[in-house]
Amino acid sequence: MSKPTSRCAVRGSINTDEYFYVKSSVRTGETISSHRYERRVGGKGANQAIAIVKAGGVADFYGTIGADGLWVKKVVSEHGLDDSKIIVSDVPTGRAIIQIANNGENCIILFPGANHSKMHEEGWASRGPENKFPECSHILLQNEIHFESTLYALNNSRNATTIYNPSPMPSVDEIRGFPWNKVDWLIVNEGEAEDLYNALHEANSVRIAGSSPPEISRSHHELLVLLSAQPAFLTTNIICTLGKDGVLAFIPAFHRPKTAHETPSFMQLPAATLQGDVRDTTGAGDCFAGYFVQGLMEFGPHAKVGREISEQDLARILKTCVQAAGMCVERQGTIDSIPTRAEVDARMA
Ligand code: ADP
Ligand code: NA
Repeated sequence: MSKPTSRCAVRGSINTDEYFYVKSSVRTGETISSHRYERRVGGKGANQAIAIVKAGGVADFYGTIGADGLWVKKVVSEHGLDDSKIIVSDVPTGRAIIQIANNGENCIILFPGANHSKMHEEGWASRGPENKFPECSHILLQNEIHFESTLYALNNSRNATTIYNPSPMPSVDEIRGFPWNKVDWLIVNEGEAEDLYNALHEANSVRIAGSSPPEISRSHHELLVLLSAQPAFLTTNIICTLGKDGVLAFIPAFHRPKTAHETPSFMQLPAATLQGDVRDTTGAGDCFAGYFVQGLMEFGPHAKVGREISEQDLARILKTCVQAAGMCVERQGTIDSIPTRAEVDARMA
């Protein structure tokens, strides 16, 4: 008898990303020429769904484009992602206009376009109370679609394992009102962890009028101790990626202290050793997230951490993720630089 397979619903963004390489970014009133131009598929939803597929998993990608984005649909399907659930709406495809200056700094204009369409939710909502979200074992969300679409997925997630990468960060009010108890896995980078902590912590503390909080520089550990102690994250597993410093994870089932006097422990893994220089870090976080979800999915549709997935299993999953993300930064590009599972396994052998 074959094992039941996991499948991940990714409700997320898909973009046209346009890169303009310029001497220095354009200023008010100025017209400048760019010496190089590139057009790539982007959007964190599409990137992460492709990473799941390259990691060997099954992803159902629910995105929305405009009639101008048919080429984007074609490119994702060439990368192995099933494009049949991408809706073509009347609104133009989401778009990022990115200026890359000679000194490496960038400026970005983001137009959400069709990513903010709620056509998927309108279709699902009409199917009756038992079927308000498609069948899946896992749901992966970012924050480049309409906030209501993200809430819709979480509120109709039933027994699926939910993974949320809140990027870009929601507003402070959205963070404070968010149903964090519906998120099984939170994936954040260091800046996002800091923003989440600041938003949630200030909601729970009284600020003395006229005083501003001191600028504190915290270690990765200190930050995660503070974040994981927030009441919102009582049951949420937190994966915090640290760029060149690898990853730090807090799993309540393994790491929650038994008494108030104990400090929590964490799982920490260094970044992969690179072959060569860092070429392009775009997409590394998305590559990490996709590989992570497939790592969980390999334990079966209903596997839970602390039950079917042990602490050692999780360490192995994270090791594969840092290796995959490390290979992604060695290469130019976003979806093009996400390695296949065979490439990752070969590097780890
Ligand atoms: P994001 O791109 O979302 O800001 P990070 O910068 O934390 O996320 O990067 C995600 C992952 O990519 C890291 O956990 C690490 O495994 C890998 N990574 C990023 N930068 C480097 C680097 N300079 N060297 C090796 N690995 C890296
Ligand atoms: Na890259």
